[in-house]
Amino acid sequence: MLLLLAGSGEARTLAQELADAAIPAVASLAGVTRAPAALALPTRSGGFGGAQAFETYLRAHSITAILDATHPFAARMSRRSAEIAAKLGLPYLQVLRPAWQPGPGDNWTLVADEESIAAHVIPGSTVFLATGRQSLIRIGPLAARRAICRQIDRPDAPYPFADGDFMIGRPPFSVAHEAALFSRLGVNQLVVKNAGGDASATKLTAARDLGIPVLMIQRPPQPDAERVDNCAEAMAWVRGLKW
Ligand SMILES: NC(=O)c1ccc[n+]([C@@H]2O[C@H](COP(=O)([O-])OP(=O)(O)OC[C@H]3O[C@@H](n4cnc5c(N)ncnc54)[C@H](OP(=O)(O)O)[C@@H]3O)[C@@H](O)[C@H]2O)c1
Repeated sequence: MLLLLAGSGEARTLAQELADAAIPAVASLAGVTRAPAALALPTRSGGFGGAQAFETYLRAHSITAILDATHPFAARMSRRSAEIAAKLGLPYLQVLRPAWQPGPGDNWTLVADEESIAAHVIPGSTVFLATGRQSLIRIGPLAARRAICRQIDRPDAPYPFADGDFMIGRPPFSVAHEAALFSRLGVNQLVVKNAGGDASATKLTAARDLGIPVLMIQRPPQPDAERVDNCAEAMAWVRGLKW
């Protein structure tokens, strides 16, 4: 049985391709989004309850290989999965899409992590946090005139700092949508995690078109393990295993 660690667009594609190829597989979601679109595989949801419980799950469900297509910032999960797979002798592959690279016209400041954002915020600016609510506590309060944090689900608690608001939006968003939104809100700084991928690069194109500077949070360190950057190579790896 293959365990597909999901949470990315690639995981969605791979779930479909694994189902089409009749590979025995189960998908796992972190459960951070309240009503995620269904995957094409039987799916469990929510954390496993730590490393030991994850290991117990792998044994109890006769998992024989792990295909890790979590979000590029879900690095704790990736590192732990790679380590436990190595310990148990299970084949493990990470699917990690390429990071975005700045091009002509982009005005990016690279920052190491969420905690580094505050030092780079232009005092009095309107900051759009395209990072999701999970990053908010790490980012902390900002010297902005206003901070707006977009998240998929309706917030279950008020914005944790003064002068900030949540807004709800479920991706994907077009370039035109993002440009109209940033103009309407008067955004003059954008905070983005370097997730990579075409679908969510539209905000970066809109920022470039409008001349909005971007604070780009770099990816956390990834596991020292076998890795591909696309679904085709991931499926070739799966097909190369014994089923
Ligand atoms: N994970 C995602 O699907 C996802 C999607 C979009 C964005 N992100 C971004 O990535 C950053 C870190 O996210 P994160 O807290 O989910 O990752 P993380 O820090 O790597 O993982 C934290 C815990 O979440 C659980 N977990 C993560 N992925 C899981 C999966 N596929 N199936 C079951 N449990 C899973 C595990 O809990 P246990 O220890 O209890 O097993 C893990 O220890 C955030 O900034 C978030 O915005 C993540």
